[in-house]
Amino acid sequence: MSPMIDEKDAVIESIATRMGVPAERGRRFADITSLRVGGAIDWVLSPKNEEQAAALGHDLEQQAIAWRPLGSGSNVLADDGAHHYVIVSLKGLKANPLFDGNRVSVSAGYSLPRLCVDAARHDLSGIEGLNGIPGTVGGALWMNAGAYGQEIGTVVDTVRVARGGRVIEIPGTEVQWNYRHTSFREGEMLLGATLSLHPDDPQKISERMEKAKSQRMATQPHGARSAGCFFKNAPASSVGTGKMIDDLGMKGTRRGGAVVSPKHANFIVTEGEDAKAEDALALAEEIRERVKREHGIDLEYEVELWSSK
Ligand code: EPU
Repeated sequence: MSPMIDEKDAVIESIATRMGVPAERGRRFADITSLRVGGAIDWVLSPKNEEQAAALGHDLEQQAIAWRPLGSGSNVLADDGAHHYVIVSLKGLKANPLFDGNRVSVSAGYSLPRLCVDAARHDLSGIEGLNGIPGTVGGALWMNAGAYGQEIGTVVDTVRVARGGRVIEIPGTEVQWNYRHTSFREGEMLLGATLSLHPDDPQKISERMEKAKSQRMATQPHGARSAGCFFKNAPASSVGTGKMIDDLGMKGTRRGGAVVSPKHANFIVTEGEDAKAEDALALAEEIRERVKREHGIDLEYEVELWSSK
């Protein structure tokens, strides 16, 4: 190992120790993403609260150490190479949400499905369609997660982000909330948000929650190793991407340990110990080529592709 790398490791270790942030080496993306594939990561640092996370990002930046934030890794496909940057895992930012009237303040690492259940218990409506999306609140904010006619961006009052080592609150109206995409800059550390919900009949809320969940269970693979829908629905097409891939007869197509889900064709699932990110990428590219050839449509990735290069 070169002295440069040793020196960098020593700096990272000392920052983590000084701040009391749990630090791990030897993890792989295969351990920390829902697709269960992807290569080695130099360090995973796991701050315990919003303030600590903000300070940590700043300290790493001051030392010119590259880092990326990650929630539950349920929308990320990282390649099989060695990733020489620090993962700041925000999963530990999971304090109990604070309800105040129609508003709820929640940290980035809190589970989105849990938040949906908590909101329902407070007779608050606005996110019941998101019930069952297997991710963190931070991840949902980052990509403006949506399902069954709802998107998280529409209920965001304020977002807390890390700036200059501090927790800064910005109005939700300053963020562009687009279809599965937001205007947050690359690498922005999202720490939490205050959502503004509205009261509704508890019976109706729970019916809508159950409906979203049962529709999801009936039409999407669950318990499988996936990253949700792999591609966005194409604005140029009236047919959803899942249906388009299904109509091409690609359900069940396999490349190595990656398979087009037989349940929903816009899901790629991985199987077996030997599955590689490369398999999922090859399969995804094959899908893109077929769709381009047959329909003239360039599918856009919905999952994030993280490169080690
Ligand atoms: N369909 C097929 N075959 C398939 C998949 C779907 O024929 O393999 C048909 C369905 O039967 C239905 C239509 O296509 O008639 C639409 O399917 P679905 O309701 O599953 O909606 P979708 O457009 O495929 C979108 C989102 C999902 C979200 C659901 C429900 C995208 C890319 N996908 O899927 O989001 O859960 O609507 O709101 O926007 C995600 O973001 O990761 C995701 C899965």
